[in-house]
Amino acid sequence: MTTTRFEFDEVGTAATGGRLLGSYLAEILDTFTTRRLTQAGVAEGSRCLVIGADAGSIAGWLADRAGSDGEVVVADTDPSHVPAYPGVTALRHDPATDPLVEDDFDLVYVRSVMACLPGRRGLLARLATALSPGGVIVLDELEAGFGPGILYAPDPDAHRLFARYQQALDTVLRRAGIHPWSYPTHRVMREAGLVGVDTECWSRSWRGGEPGCLLPRALAAQLFDDLTEAGIARPDLAAFRGILLDSRLVVRGCPVVSTIGRKPATATDGWFAAVPVGAPAAAGTSPAAAGSVAGVSPVPDRLSRCASPSRGSPIFGRIGPHPSRP
Ligand SMILES: C[S@@+](CC[C@H](N)C(=O)[O-])C[C@H]1O[C@@H](n2cnc3c(N)ncnc32)[C@H](O)[C@@H]1O
Repeated sequence: MTTTRFEFDEVGTAATGGRLLGSYLAEILDTFTTRRLTQAGVAEGSRCLVIGADAGSIAGWLADRAGSDGEVVVADTDPSHVPAYPGVTALRHDPATDPLVEDDFDLVYVRSVMACLPGRRGLLARLATALSPGGVIVLDELEAGFGPGILYAPDPDAHRLFARYQQALDTVLRRAGIHPWSYPTHRVMREAGLVGVDTECWSRSWRGGEPGCLLPRALAAQLFDDLTEAGIARPDLAAFRGILLDSRLVVRGCPVVSTIGRKPATATDGWFAAVPVGAPAAAGTSPAAAGSVAGVSPVPDRLSRCASPSRGSPIFGRIGPHPSRP
């Protein structure tokens, strides 16, 4: 596996003129995402966990809905991107490796992060255990390939350039160990004992110069060397980036696959009826907590904990404070 930086960090912002790639994602997806979160339900007083917030727009949106009695915790390996916002506590934390202690979150939200995480299946099962009864996970992932599709091109050569780019991007993703994870999510949520699992796929058209074109254009800049090493000629990659600014071009943005699953509110609400693949859950024990989801270790009841800055209740073990906070 190479060390391609696929995170939306300073490397990315240097290549994209100072803009976080996540800010393009927010422009493209937030309208859809907030509709899904509304569908999932964000009540006043909700405790929310956001994994990997990048520009932080959804964390702020959740905090507004959760109100002063609620709380939004962001767990991110680099929380420095998350702007300070009332009700949002950003923590340096890697849920893929750091222990996530079971706790009562009413809502867990993850977008465009799972594909990059090793052990994502086990993580999802652990997140399910961190939900309060009736709590919900909303997980949005970009469709395999992460690429736009041409709907109308002013220049027929655009089809060749897009195909070359997509081929090279697939190679870069594979080398970086990134496995698009949009469709397994539904099954894994069910196997983790979540109920009412619902999936919606969404995409729309974008003209050249609009966010749906600027995102692949910026990504092509960030990954320029990796992509050319993976086979696309430098002039072709430059031409691909140029076409994405042509307002006559119309593309279909990369589809996002959004999956919602709920932890049963009561023992008769479906949790015990859910039998994960691999081994049946012991009676009276949640499948995930029992470690009965295939390949998932049981979550210990208590790990070393530290206090949530805002509520004083224990949330995570081994985390550091937000760098910008005292
Ligand atoms: C692709 S961006 C997604 C941003 C945001 N969810 C969105 O859709 O706009 C990835 C974000 O996840 C964070 N991240 C990467 N690896 C992570 C990990 N193992 N645990 C938590 N956050 C991680 C990055 O720092 C970055 O903020």
